[in-house]
Amino acid sequence: MNESFTLLKIEGRTGEDPRDSAEGYRNFRNALGQFATGVTVMTGFSPNGDRFGITVTSFNSLSLDPPLILWSLGREGGSFACFQAGTPFAVNVLSSGQKDMAERFARVGIPKFEGVATQNGLDGVPLIAGASAYFECLVEARYPGGDHDIVVGRVRRLFNIGKDPLLFHKGALRPLG
Ligand SMILES: Cc1cc2nc3c(=O)[nH]c(=O)nc-3n(C[C@H](O)[C@H](O)[C@H](O)COP(=O)(O)O)c2cc1C
Repeated sequence: MNESFTLLKIEGRTGEDPRDSAEGYRNFRNALGQFATGVTVMTGFSPNGDRFGITVTSFNSLSLDPPLILWSLGREGGSFACFQAGTPFAVNVLSSGQKDMAERFARVGIPKFEGVATQNGLDGVPLIAGASAYFECLVEARYPGGDHDIVVGRVRRLFNIGKDPLLFHKGALRPLG
């Protein structure tokens, strides 16, 4: 290991290299897991018109004026072909009782909407019942970022329901409190 990695210690810990090894990758993921986030499901339509949704924790605010949000979309997922510029989608911010929704929309190859109560938002985009907030968006831009693309959404309409949130921390989904 390079000397610069072992010289500095913070609270007894040496710095870790996130690159090029299974251990480095795991350390990187674990350190990212210290950053607690909320949990969202991005809903929309695939190019052939089917409804789809994916669980996403990389959501964040980008701009207040104009109203923009962003998140990252994995290259490997089945939804990579969705979310092209100009297409509508919705951010469903999950509430504390919706751990089952987060797990359902993170799975591959199941009919994700079966038994899920929804209402049709703008352009018919499904809004999942019971969420704590909704942002209805159009894809403003997409930028490459390693093994993900950054998706920028322009918010057209929002609902702030105000329920307690579901959280994601250290790799686990937890209700607030
Ligand atoms: C807690 C959690 C957070 C996730 N965050 C993201 C994310 O920010 N971006 C992403 O592309 N996938 C994320 N995923 C993975 C997707 O939910 C998953 O790959 C997707 O639902 C697979 O479905 P698809 O093949 O139909 O796209 C996350 C999964 C979990 C469990």
